[in-house]
Amino acid sequence: MSSLLETKIAARQHALREQGLLRQRKVLSVDHALNTNASTSSPRFVFEGRAYVNFSSNDYLGLSRVPPLAEALHLGAQTYGVGSGASPLVTGYSDAHLALERELCALTGHEAALLFCSGFSANTALMKTLFDQHDIVVADKLVHASIIDGLQDSGAQLKRFLHNSLESAERLLARHQTSALITESVFSMDGDCAPIFELSALCRQHHAWLIVDDAHGFAVLDGYKKAEPAKLIDVQVVTFGKALGCQGAAVLGSQALIDFLVSNAREYIYSTALSPANAALALAATQYSTEHPELQQQLLENIKLFKRLCREANVPLLGSDTAIQPLIIGDARQTLQVAEELRAAGIWVGAIRPPTVPVGSARLRITLTAAHAAEDIATCVAQLAQVLSRVGVPLVTERQAADDHR
Ligand SMILES: Cc1ncc(COP(=O)(O)O)c(C=O)c1O
Repeated sequence: MSSLLETKIAARQHALREQGLLRQRKVLSVDHALNTNASTSSPRFVFEGRAYVNFSSNDYLGLSRVPPLAEALHLGAQTYGVGSGASPLVTGYSDAHLALERELCALTGHEAALLFCSGFSANTALMKTLFDQHDIVVADKLVHASIIDGLQDSGAQLKRFLHNSLESAERLLARHQTSALITESVFSMDGDCAPIFELSALCRQHHAWLIVDDAHGFAVLDGYKKAEPAKLIDVQVVTFGKALGCQGAAVLGSQALIDFLVSNAREYIYSTALSPANAALALAATQYSTEHPELQQQLLENIKLFKRLCREANVPLLGSDTAIQPLIIGDARQTLQVAEELRAAGIWVGAIRPPTVPVGSARLRITLTAAHAAEDIATCVAQLAQVLSRVGVPLVTERQAADDHR
């Protein structure tokens, strides 16, 4: 007889399979032939013996394969060892961590920073530690799962405003005495940007903190950066696993906030510190990204090229101007089918389904990087147009998609 848990697991997996929502990992390997010269070939990997062009990575600047950064990691490991050996408050915090924190503060204007092993733990730690049942927190409808999980654990009252709607946010701020408003700089599944300047003004007016998850904006999005983020944003979470091409995250804010987190954030206190080698790598990647603005330029050109070719081929996108280019299909199974057909043509794009995105808005999430070659972008769009018309997908137009968000 099966145990209670075996029965539960089998039933839940069966239900997910039936709905086309079962998640499975794929074992990828390196395409040695093509990855030797990262500056001239698009990002590729091998799956089950076949090479694919990767349009599904958050390595927006292509930094994960840049030789000087591999050297920085190597040097960091030689200097500090391969692990931190303890939690930060024991003996896991070194001058490598401090140097990275200082660099991040210098770049953003915040007073202090705290490092975490991932953006997920940075967000949950921040939310759980900062808020309790006495707080009312207002958040964009589309904020990341890690923010929602942390807020749920905190016991704070959560009020959601309509995605990127200033009117909706203002209504909530006017109605409730709000501790903080939370948004993302670039939304991970839609690729659109929050109105940071306007939200900042609203928060000032209502004496609420503005907290921005900058996972997909840090090191790539210029706009509000020119105005110095710390002047607009009270707490900024940056991650190193996207545009910086490596791993880890930081919470940036006032010295008082960081001191408070050091004393109270359980994820920080009771977890092995980010390795100093990874801190040295993230520092080198941060510096590399600022010393090589041509990578951001190349990324922008690749985004423009992709959008132009999609327009010419009547492939309707959501209207994003960032590296994240969603194409809403709606039905989860059809989305998987389109992604599979693209794979048959050697193009790998993400098929994003509920619960990651709302039911009925399953989508392809195509991500562009500075490392993509123009011919691969052209092939991607040509295949996309062919597959969509072959599969007969009822496409959601830009206008319909915008309406869905209201
Ligand atoms: C908006 C956003 N915040 C936070 C995270 C978590 O960051 P990490 O991948 O470093 O855990 C992600 C990544 O998936 C994200 O998209």
